Amino acid sequence: MKKPSTKTLLFLVLILGLNACGGQPGKTLTSKEGTTVEYALESGLEDGRMVYIGVGGEINGQTNPTLTANVGDTVKITLTSGEGAEHDISFPDFNAHSEHVSGQGNSTTLSFIADGGGSFVYFCTLPGHREAGMEGKFEVTGEPKMAAAPPESNDAAVTPTEPSMVMPVSAQASASMDVTDIVRDPTDIPPAIGVREPTTVRINLESVEVDGQLADGTTFTYWTFNGQVPGPFLRVKIGDTLEVHMKNNTSSTMTHSVDFHAVTGPGGGATMTQTPPGQETMFTAKALNPGLFVYHCATPMVADHIANGMYGLILVEPEGGLEVVDREFYVMQGEIYTTGAFGEQGHQMPDVEKLLNEDPEYFVFNGAVGALTDLKPLKADVGQNVRIFFGVGGPNFTSSFHVIGEIFDRVYDNASLTATPLTDVQTVLVPTGGATMVEFRLEVPGRYILVDHSLSRLQRGLAGFLVAEGEENPEIYSGTPTGGSGH
Ligand code: CU
Ligand code: CU
Ligand code: CU
Repeated sequence: MKKPSTKTLLFLVLILGLNACGGQPGKTLTSKEGTTVEYALESGLEDGRMVYIGVGGEINGQTNPTLTANVGDTVKITLTSGEGAEHDISFPDFNAHSEHVSGQGNSTTLSFIADGGGSFVYFCTLPGHREAGMEGKFEVTGEPKMAAAPPESNDAAVTPTEPSMVMPVSAQASASMDVTDIVRDPTDIPPAIGVREPTTVRINLESVEVDGQLADGTTFTYWTFNGQVPGPFLRVKIGDTLEVHMKNNTSSTMTHSVDFHAVTGPGGGATMTQTPPGQETMFTAKALNPGLFVYHCATPMVADHIANGMYGLILVEPEGGLEVVDREFYVMQGEIYTTGAFGEQGHQMPDVEKLLNEDPEYFVFNGAVGALTDLKPLKADVGQNVRIFFGVGGPNFTSSFHVIGEIFDRVYDNASLTATPLTDVQTVLVPTGGATMVEFRLEVPGRYILVDHSLSRLQRGLAGFLVAEGEENPEIYSGTPTGGSGH
């Protein structure tokens, strides 16, 4: 920033002075330097959206109020975090950006000169917030704004006050790190339903934002259904009525929701479950089609909510249920976009730029690197028939799902449980927001590796183990081990 001019310094003194006196919101003050227009805004949640709410003056209580000024006015904005989440406010046409503010009741102040007339916007620059609703209009009356702003207004534009109330995000995260186990056990599956009359099934989902281990020495703030990734495996039967209760934990910073691909109706439930922190919503829906379906959070920016861990599977059993197998497993694939490169230690923040560029740092099964290898591998015995319910949360990458050293005896392609299954398949393509059901019999003991056969993703954390115990079977597989995959 260039050295401030005397005029700018005078201006600063004026602003700081007003601030110290706690100037009235929505008021217009006149001094020898010109007119100062003051507005106070508070962040909040309304109808499942994130919004700015006017505080005091003419804009009191208004959602994303239209702010007005005359050319030459000094505009002073005080932004308070109403619900405690982290936000900021930006007037990009005036090169005016506030500091981030977080923690309920904390404020930041921004001042700039409205140096040209026209219709402009203001919005929150935090990832996904503008898309989620934090946007309003800024109308300036007077001569149209020129392309290049006068130099002295640039000085005024970058005048954040009360810096002590703003804490860097990384510092906040590491200050109170309470790491929980976010890895969903692949055996965490309700028992088969089989034959019974259709009924009403209550489904309890709670969105919880938790710090979890992403990899060795690396943590990440996950957004989850019921505390783990993926969300709980839900099991209902064709003709059942789902009664979905969607709760959002009081400690959440975001609104969350749920969209069931198993549900028929606009939004799949998302239009009825936009749930602010500390609240609960409910809807009912009839399971008309059998199959294995993805569910996920559908709160803007949806890709961001999915990338942070908000996806799961629901099985709608067909008439008569599924054939009985010895072991069932629940595995989901997703990508994680962190600011730090793959393997970087410490707490990682989500990177929306990388998300939009579809350039993830991590690929994971069940939420974390090592989730299904070191932490919770799949286990079965030789001679058993195993079934894997496999889904892709994504949000962006399809999977070429393969188990090294096995052949799928049956593949319920695209998780259709009513079509005739494919037989004898090596690798199955699973779309994002899609699933598959595979079955195979274990013949030879040892460690099989679950992969996405886009194998560079192995280097980005994507692998799982299926450990088969039992008698060697030399008739099928024998030789002298030399190392390599699986041993
Ligand atoms: Cu925001
Ligand atoms: Cu969400
Ligand atoms: Cu979807």
